[in-house]
Amino acid sequence: MFYELRNVSKSFGSKQVLSDIDLEITRGETTVVLGGSGAGKSVLLKLLIGLIQPDTGEILFEGQDIGHLKESQYYAVRKRVSYLFQGGALFDSMNVLQNLAYPLLAHSALSDEEIRERARESLEMVELENVEHMFPVDLSGGMMKRVALARAIINHPEMILYDEPTTGLDPLTTRTINKLIRKLQRELKVTSVVVTHDMSTADFVADKLSFLHQGEFAFSGRIEEARASDHPLLRAYFWGGHHE
Ligand SMILES: Nc1ncnc2c1ncn2[C@@H]1O[C@H](COP(=O)(O)OP(=O)(O)OP(=O)(O)O)[C@@H](O)[C@H]1O
Ligand SMILES: [Mg+2]
Repeated sequence: MFYELRNVSKSFGSKQVLSDIDLEITRGETTVVLGGSGAGKSVLLKLLIGLIQPDTGEILFEGQDIGHLKESQYYAVRKRVSYLFQGGALFDSMNVLQNLAYPLLAHSALSDEEIRERARESLEMVELENVEHMFPVDLSGGMMKRVALARAIINHPEMILYDEPTTGLDPLTTRTINKLIRKLQRELKVTSVVVTHDMSTADFVADKLSFLHQGEFAFSGRIEEARASDHPLLRAYFWGGHHE
């Protein structure tokens, strides 16, 4: 198992966000965590790379509990796992090339020429070209997401954590991003966790799906089981007009 959460709980003050949850993330697969606003999806992603630490339970990364490492020890995890932040968050004052180069400057000793080549490769993977010198303000929402995706893969991560990759995008752009998530899985063999409340994204990209509700997984299983499940909450999501 690549990642395994065992009996993980997390509260903030008196508010219990996650109650004793278990999750298995298999290498090469895309695990979707579906849940409403405030359900704890972003908290879950942050736990995976130590931006937040659990109150109880274990977060096993290749079998090693990383729930309570020192800040400096998380470097070894974070250089293998990319995080696509909710909202995409590009640096507005930097052009696309500078945005892409950013993770490389911190973590590697590549020459300018190598950085440009890596950036070109990453942009090609997300099907963008000739955008290196554009600034975020001049990009559409969909292009920004793709640039953020290109930045997430530039370090050749083994895993990508996607926080709401399609929220706020129109249906066609959503479809483009959904396809890209699948393509990165296929071509880069990357393991992914996608958190979303967008059913179309869940349905398109998931190998496995876990439904987070009131701090617990109300359903966990393969996407085929989720589609066939008569669990009322899942049914509400599949058919209940959550296709915003
Ligand atoms: N650092 C923090 N301090 C206090 N409360 C927090 C902190 N981080 C998250 N929370 C609380 O935990 C709950 C879950 O937050 P989280 O951001 O994980 O929700 P989410 O499922 O990602 O929602 P959304 O779909 O709106 O992004 C919320 O009630 C939030 O206010
Ligand atoms: Mg969130």
